[in-house]
Amino acid sequence: MSPFNIHEYLQEQRLYFEQVLTEYFEWTTGTGHSTRVREAMAYSLFSGGKRLRPILTLTTARIFSSELGPVSALACALEMIHTYSLIHDDLPAMDNDTLRRGRPTCHIAFGTEIATKAGIGLLDQALKVCLLAHERFPELAQPMCRAASELFHNAGFDGMVGGQIADIIAERIKVGLEEVRSIHRYKTAAMIEVAIVMGCLLYTDDDRTIQAFRTFGQKIGLAFQIIDDILDILSESSVLGKNAHSDLERGKATYPALVGIDQSRHDAEQLIEQAVDALSDTALPVQILVEIARYVYNRKM
Ligand code: IPE
Ligand code: IPE
Ligand code: MG
Ligand code: MG
Ligand code: MG
Repeated sequence: MSPFNIHEYLQEQRLYFEQVLTEYFEWTTGTGHSTRVREAMAYSLFSGGKRLRPILTLTTARIFSSELGPVSALACALEMIHTYSLIHDDLPAMDNDTLRRGRPTCHIAFGTEIATKAGIGLLDQALKVCLLAHERFPELAQPMCRAASELFHNAGFDGMVGGQIADIIAERIKVGLEEVRSIHRYKTAAMIEVAIVMGCLLYTDDDRTIQAFRTFGQKIGLAFQIIDDILDILSESSVLGKNAHSDLERGKATYPALVGIDQSRHDAEQLIEQAVDALSDTALPVQILVEIARYVYNRKM
């Protein structure tokens, strides 16, 4: 047997996930009045992207079961919400970026009006996917409801939306490290945490187990955004597929802006170790999640 290769694993999972995502996207969008909005939604949803969050959901689920149908639907909803968050994040009123996933951002390609609606359209699709999946897998109706409600909670003003606004406000006022950590927790870690939690909620109601996975998700989510802030400084647009050095131009309150690159790297590494520790008590086969956690730290894009 050849040794486990995280990059091959991620690529394989990406391909699997994108097949399911295509099915759910087609399934839930009609021909509709505005084909232009649908085009913009598809443009952003199927333009690459690491698919890290759905891969985390599927990898977690596989620890518990080989039946991935129901959880795949939730993973699709999550990626739709994530893609909507990217479209809105790039808008002129937010980070005002022009490059995303290696292509012009949605508003550059389609205009701000269509891009704004495409974002909302994807949020709406995500809800539709959850409702359809709920009907399709009635035996799991209760945990699916719980997972979907946590998904929408973490995507909303108590999660990603709230964090995104705090991030914009912090461009104009001086904030300290605690506030930056809080921004990261809401704007980024909330969605990564729920990716992991959804992967176990369908299969277990053991609070200790769920809590261990939740802590894992929170910690790698925080590390993910610290690394994102570092890459914005050290990398290039051609590698990232999005505008490098954008944080500096906008005067963003980022982690390395406050503590420097070395300390940021050190803190991200510690968060990854804490994440891995959280899973060690579960006595479950979590090796691939551990590999993904290390990838989050070592990633180049
Ligand atoms: C970008 O997320 C937004 C952040 C939370 C930093 P990703 O880096 O996962 O973006 P894609 O999905 O791979 O494009
Ligand atoms: C955004 O953080 C997080 C989201 C919720 C989209 P960033 O603004 O740093 O993400 P990038 O660097 O543009 O991908
Ligand atoms: Mg932003
Ligand atoms: Mg941004
Ligand atoms: Mg960034």
